[in-house]
Amino acid sequence: MITIKSPQELEKMRRSNAIVREVLRILEENTAAGVTTLDLDRISEETCRKRKAKPAFKGYRGYPFSLCASVNEQVVHGFPSTRPLRDGDIVSMDFGALFEGFYGDAAVTVGVGRPSDAAKRLIDTTRAALCEGIQKARCGNRLSDISHAVQTFVEAHGFSVVRSFVGHGIGRELHEEPQVPNFGPPGKGIRLRAGMVLAIEPMVNEGGCEVEILEDGWTAVTRDRKLSAHFEHSVAITKNGPYILSGD
Ligand code: CO
Repeated sequence: MITIKSPQELEKMRRSNAIVREVLRILEENTAAGVTTLDLDRISEETCRKRKAKPAFKGYRGYPFSLCASVNEQVVHGFPSTRPLRDGDIVSMDFGALFEGFYGDAAVTVGVGRPSDAAKRLIDTTRAALCEGIQKARCGNRLSDISHAVQTFVEAHGFSVVRSFVGHGIGRELHEEPQVPNFGPPGKGIRLRAGMVLAIEPMVNEGGCEVEILEDGWTAVTRDRKLSAHFEHSVAITKNGPYILSGD
């Protein structure tokens, strides 16, 4: 079932997503060579709890941390670790918060120090691919219009989109229907309606789209061990077009 949110519910989701946005902004400010992703995990949880919100991922299907921190070839669901970040790394930070009954969910990828031109191009392309998808999140469009826009943009830039993980509806549950793939033909799937909220989250690989899961059961890495980037926004579909709940 796809839930339709009332204006009051959308306002609540704007608030939970504002907390996610603030957490990610503070994490970006703290990302530097020498900092560990476990430091970032602690900062994310403290910032979230200070706002009276609950970290959404901790305990979700047994996920052991508040933050997903995926470094370099890690695609998503990277475990925060004691390995200090190094100049030139890229780190994808995905954070969710539960506030007054509603979830917020967003992700960004940032370079540490001075990332390579290739790394910067991957990050910029992934951020822009999310924008391309969001522009299709309009009343009357079909779900896969979002998917197709993301895939077309990414592949035009010579990168590949991950198939094994997808975006999702979001609201009173972290993961609601429908699934939102980042690939596929246009014009398929449900018709988008005002009050739907979608977490759109392209994962883009420098090389091939194949991923594998490490022995920890969570961390997804590129099979070819080339770089991967991830951006996510929670987006409401409104009569006036897409509204980025997790935006500034
Ligand atoms: Co998500």
